[in-house]
Amino acid sequence: MNETAHNKKLFIETVGCQMNVLDSELVVAALRQDGYELTPSMKEADTILFNTCSVREHAEEKIYSQLGRLKYSKDARPNLVIGVMGCMAQKDQKIIFRRAPHVDLIVGTGQLAEIPRLIDESRKGEKRQMAVSLGRKDGSRLEVSSSFQSYDPLRDPEMRPSPHQAFVRIMFGCDKFCTYCVVPTTRGPEQSRQPSDIRRESEALAAQGVKEITLLGQTVNSYKHTEEGRLYRMSDLLESLHDIEGIQRIKFVTNYPKDMTDDLLQAIRDLPKVSHYLHVPLQHGCDDMLKKMKRGYTVAEYRDMMHRIRETIPGVSVSSDFIVGFCGESDEAHQKSMDVVREFRFKNSFIFKYSERSGTKAADNYPDDIPDDVKKARNNEMLTLQNAISAEDNADFIGRTVEVLVEGPSKNAVKAEQNRPSNAGPDQLVGRSRCDRIVVFNGNPRLIGTIAHVSVQDCTPTTLMGNIVTQTHQHGSNMLPILQ
Ligand code: SAH
Ligand code: SF4
Ligand code: F3S
Repeated sequence: MNETAHNKKLFIETVGCQMNVLDSELVVAALRQDGYELTPSMKEADTILFNTCSVREHAEEKIYSQLGRLKYSKDARPNLVIGVMGCMAQKDQKIIFRRAPHVDLIVGTGQLAEIPRLIDESRKGEKRQMAVSLGRKDGSRLEVSSSFQSYDPLRDPEMRPSPHQAFVRIMFGCDKFCTYCVVPTTRGPEQSRQPSDIRRESEALAAQGVKEITLLGQTVNSYKHTEEGRLYRMSDLLESLHDIEGIQRIKFVTNYPKDMTDDLLQAIRDLPKVSHYLHVPLQHGCDDMLKKMKRGYTVAEYRDMMHRIRETIPGVSVSSDFIVGFCGESDEAHQKSMDVVREFRFKNSFIFKYSERSGTKAADNYPDDIPDDVKKARNNEMLTLQNAISAEDNADFIGRTVEVLVEGPSKNAVKAEQNRPSNAGPDQLVGRSRCDRIVVFNGNPRLIGTIAHVSVQDCTPTTLMGNIVTQTHQHGSNMLPILQ
């Protein structure tokens, strides 16, 4: 152990979206190079980082209450460094010092590369370090964009949920300014990364054993970048990543309905490694609400897009996000959202109660007038409907065979492992079908990271359960009906 080891134990907690999961991975990689090691215990750590989310109030309140509790630890251990990074840091800035005076650093989403230096300064006694990017109105577009620094992608396999899966950022920020949403402020202007950088990073991940990459952007299908005189759209980017050896599957989230172009749908259909899964949030089923949200499309336009998607890519799964209880949402408006859930049969929907965010257009212009119990009831009603639809659609898979990229032991298997001898029968594995359905089955752990064929026997609203199929017939009429 070297002499500084006592102050190089890092605890990091990550909340929010996949962007944050990726950011934490990058920060941990940088800190490890500086000699830090991760600890799962806050008590053992001498550096504690919270990677935060501002999208709903609840997420922020949870962090503030954790910070509050840490005051006593800080009093007892003055050498402890506490940092708040990510979206809340960019949004609340100095307010965090006011609400939690024992916080040492505040680092916005566009300044993460500064973290190792700021921790050092803080430990040397320079308290209250802050690095944030410019606000959206605090300079020219170029100035604001460049204040959200891109982060050199040092990757750390140990921080990934599974060694075979990795996120790759293709875009920063968002320019859509939906009226309820804080992300354009916390993540800054929309910027697409260079295709050659994305490819290089994906190749490096493949060399580390990654089999599945998920391309990330707030509106990933709005991707556009001109490099050496050639314009790359999302479809071109998918094509250029498709031949990377070792990568077996490519996914991308989240899509913006207005930018779902035919060239992209055709690329998804024609490129075998691309997942047949599209997360395209509709947010609401009522045109007046969509307009108030400034989503830029009507339900009829979304319906046209849905028809194009389903015509072009048979067997595709589509999932959505919905907000219930948005400003002025009447019972009729809510029922329209229920109608579209029924009509579009999403694989799953993420349903959120509207949470007013200061600084957004909705907070400035429309009262948050739906009581919380009504929001809750609408949320539950929609969730019940969506679950019934997911269960029905999953039941259609029973008796069919799906192609599964095996991710690892299933969560149940991990729990059971703690209570049984290691050689007690086959392992329960989990993976996803090409249309992104979760599939659980018994099999040899050697299958992890490969594509397996699983015959589906049973299901829940969220999971297909089945048995591994040994494929003996590769040709002719005996071939198994391999589904998405
Ligand atoms: N860029 C993605 C989503 C980012 S936020 C997209 O545009 O689809 C993830 C989800 O959180 C959104 O799709 C929306 O459904 C929800 N959300 C965003 N702001 C919210 C707010 N103020 N209250 C409740 N839900 C919100
Ligand atoms: Fe927020 Fe809308 Fe941008 Fe999505 S597209 S991040 S909901 S502003
Ligand atoms: Fe939250 Fe920021 Fe993601 S606000 S949803 S962590 S972009």
